[in-house]
Amino acid sequence: MNNFDKILKNGLETSSFSEEELVLMLDEKNPENIQKLFDSANAVKLEIVGNKVSLRGLIEIGNVCRKNCFYCGIRRENFKMERFELSQNEILADAELAWKFKYGSIVLQGGEIQTEKHITFIEDTVRKIKSLTNNELGITLSLGEQSLETYRYWFEAGAHRYLLRIETSSPEIYGRIHPADHLFNERLQALYDLRTAGFQLGSGIMFGFDGQTSADMARDLLFLKKLDVDMVGMGPYSIHRDTPMGRVHPVQNNADMLTLGCKMIALLRILMPDINIASTTVLQALAPDGREKGLLAGANVIMPNVSEVRFRKAYQLYDNKPGIDENADCTRNALEQSLHSIGLVPAYNEWGDSKHFKNRKN
Ligand code: 5AD
Ligand code: SF4
Repeated sequence: MNNFDKILKNGLETSSFSEEELVLMLDEKNPENIQKLFDSANAVKLEIVGNKVSLRGLIEIGNVCRKNCFYCGIRRENFKMERFELSQNEILADAELAWKFKYGSIVLQGGEIQTEKHITFIEDTVRKIKSLTNNELGITLSLGEQSLETYRYWFEAGAHRYLLRIETSSPEIYGRIHPADHLFNERLQALYDLRTAGFQLGSGIMFGFDGQTSADMARDLLFLKKLDVDMVGMGPYSIHRDTPMGRVHPVQNNADMLTLGCKMIALLRILMPDINIASTTVLQALAPDGREKGLLAGANVIMPNVSEVRFRKAYQLYDNKPGIDENADCTRNALEQSLHSIGLVPAYNEWGDSKHFKNRKN
């Protein structure tokens, strides 16, 4: 047995890799070995989680953000970005559509806003979605860093999962890709607070940007395991031309980034067999079948966009965001077909909580 096979076999048996082993896997160039990694991770997923794909109807509620992250298209100082905020009725209409589509759950995603008005607006909107859908629709929030009090308030209103990416587990890299007033420790504290408030905890990272090594990415994966997250949404960095990072390094190789994205998913699936892992939209931006590739490398969640088409263009974190011209109906049909074509089944009418959360509670 060669070294790659030995490490992979041991990883599968123990659900663990050392940092050095992860680096070796991330740096692997042989396509046959890479495919072996994807297939093994997919087999772990099929055994532990099954062949159902959990669905989250994604509602982009607004692109106003108080933060100024160097990589993100909706950063505060991108003055070229036209700003929008959905009204409550618009959000309710999207939520109702997701419910009618039997998506089972939704994600309300938007920039970080900490005003009293916004906090109350979200609370009220969550309550209304719950009552409008007879409590049937699960609600995940992805609205940035907030106080423990706010997290509690939103949890009590009926949201039960929250996504907040750490972006990188290295405080030093965090400092390079964010302005000085975005503090790594505050982000970490917010993750602890989310758990205290009762949320199922989702986090994730962004990877593949300049100045980050395979060892950094390996440590990111080990960090997610140590944080014992219930769900992960992570993906390759993708350029947005009107950002400080996009202006400095305006090119990247899409095929390489997609392979890296799938490797990260596969390694995480082996490290944490029972969590939810999303095949994120950014993979689809890198290749038309990117999202399916992510699912075949071990991801089990997708987030079809249910926002109205006219707002999708404005929620552009990176260039070439997919699906901005297609309406929710098209998205749904294409989705069903593409899942069936790779032997997977959409999990209609299910919240799709992670097994990891249930296992941890028991
Ligand atoms: N490329 C890839 N992902 C990005 N995000 C923001 N900007 C980019 C980009 N240019 C991700 C971050 C953030 C999430 C909302 O989107 O990880 O947490
Ligand atoms: Fe705001 Fe998130 Fe974009 Fe940072 S990454 S600017 S917090 S939306």
